[in-house]
Amino acid sequence: MKIVVSGIRPTGNLHLGNYFGAIRNFVKMQEENHCFFFIADYHSLTTHPTPADLHGNVKTVLVEFLACGLDPEKATLYIQSDLPETAELYLLLNMNAYIGELERCTSFKEKIRTQPQNVNAGLLTYPTLMAADIILHKAHQVPVGKDQEQHLEMTRTFANRFNRLYKTDYFPEPVAYNFGEELIKIPGLDGTTKMSKSDNEASAIYLADSPETIRKKIMKAVTDSGPVDPEQPRSQGVINLFSLLSFFSTHETVSHFEDHYRAGTIRYGDLKKQLAEDIIRFTAPFREKMLSLASDQDYLRKTTALGAEKARESARKTIREVREIIGFKPF
Ligand code: ADP
Ligand code: TRP
Repeated sequence: MKIVVSGIRPTGNLHLGNYFGAIRNFVKMQEENHCFFFIADYHSLTTHPTPADLHGNVKTVLVEFLACGLDPEKATLYIQSDLPETAELYLLLNMNAYIGELERCTSFKEKIRTQPQNVNAGLLTYPTLMAADIILHKAHQVPVGKDQEQHLEMTRTFANRFNRLYKTDYFPEPVAYNFGEELIKIPGLDGTTKMSKSDNEASAIYLADSPETIRKKIMKAVTDSGPVDPEQPRSQGVINLFSLLSFFSTHETVSHFEDHYRAGTIRYGDLKKQLAEDIIRFTAPFREKMLSLASDQDYLRKTTALGAEKARESARKTIREVREIIGFKPF
C-alpha cells in the first residue's frame, strides 16, 4: 500500500477545475492507498490573513473536501497546524536547506516580483515546509499539479540530503502522482483555456455558487459575434462552451447545438441557458451537502479530531526516529 500525501491551501472556494483536476482524483486514490490529505493553514500565513478569515477559509475547504467525497474513515484528513510535528521537522530541514537554492526557486522569484512589499522568510522557506509535510509521513507519492513539481524536486533534494548526511536510507524519495489520461482540464468562461481563480472572478464556477450566480456567470461567458462561417476555426470562447457542454450536458444536447453551429443557426444565448441548467444540476448535490455540513459544528469537530489523531500517530513516529538519527538522545 502506497503512502500518499497532498495539501491544499485554504484560499477560498473550490471551482469545477479544482474538482475535476484534483479533488475527484483524491476521492479515487483514498480507495487504494494510505492517503494523508491536509489543509495547509501554516503555509497560508505567508499572506497574513486575519484570524477570522483564516478560520473561515479552513472551514470552507474542510466542508468542501467532505462534500466532494473525501472520507475521514478511509483517508487521514487533517489540518496542518493540528500537527506541530510538521513545524519541528521544518525547523530541522531548514538547517540543511541552502539560501541559494531557496532563492532560485521559481515560486519565490515570482513572489519577489509580484509582492516586493512582503518578501518574508516564510516565503523563502515555503519549500522546506512543504517537504516537511511530505516526508513527515514518509510519502511515496504526491498528487500535485505542474506548478508544484519544482517544490517536489526540492523535497527529494532535502530528503536525500538528510539520508546522505546521516548515512541512512530513512526517507523514501517521493514522486509526483501522475494521473495521465485521467487528468481533465476544465476551460474558463473568460475565453482562456483553463478555469482559474486568478484575478478574474467571473472565469470560474464554484461548487458553492448559487443557481442565480451560475446563470449570470454563464450568460456573461466570452463568445464571438456568431453565427460565424462554420468552416472557419472556432474562437476560443466558443470552443470552451462546447467543451463545457460535453462535460455537463447529455449527448443529445451536444449534438443539437453542434448541428445548429454547422447550419449557421446557432444562438449562443440558448446554448448558455441549457449549459447553465446542466451545470446547476451537477453542482446542486455538492452545494446541499456543503450547506448542511457547514452548520454541523459537532461533526466538523469530531472529523478534525479524528484526522489529527491519525496523522499524529504517523508524525510522532517519524519525529521520534529522526531525533534519534540526528543525535537528540535522552539521558
Ligand atoms: P487556480 O488555477 O484556480 O489558482 P489552484 O492553484 O487552487 O487553482 O489549483 C489547485 C489544483 O486544482 C491544481 O493543482 C490542479 O490540479 C487543479 N486545477 C485547477 N484548475 C484546473 C482546471 N481548470 N482544470 C483541471 N484542474 C485544475
Ligand atoms: N504548495 C501546495 C500548493 O500551493 C500546497 C501544499 C503544501 C502541498 N504542502 C503540500 C501539496 C504537500 C502537496 C504536498 O498547491
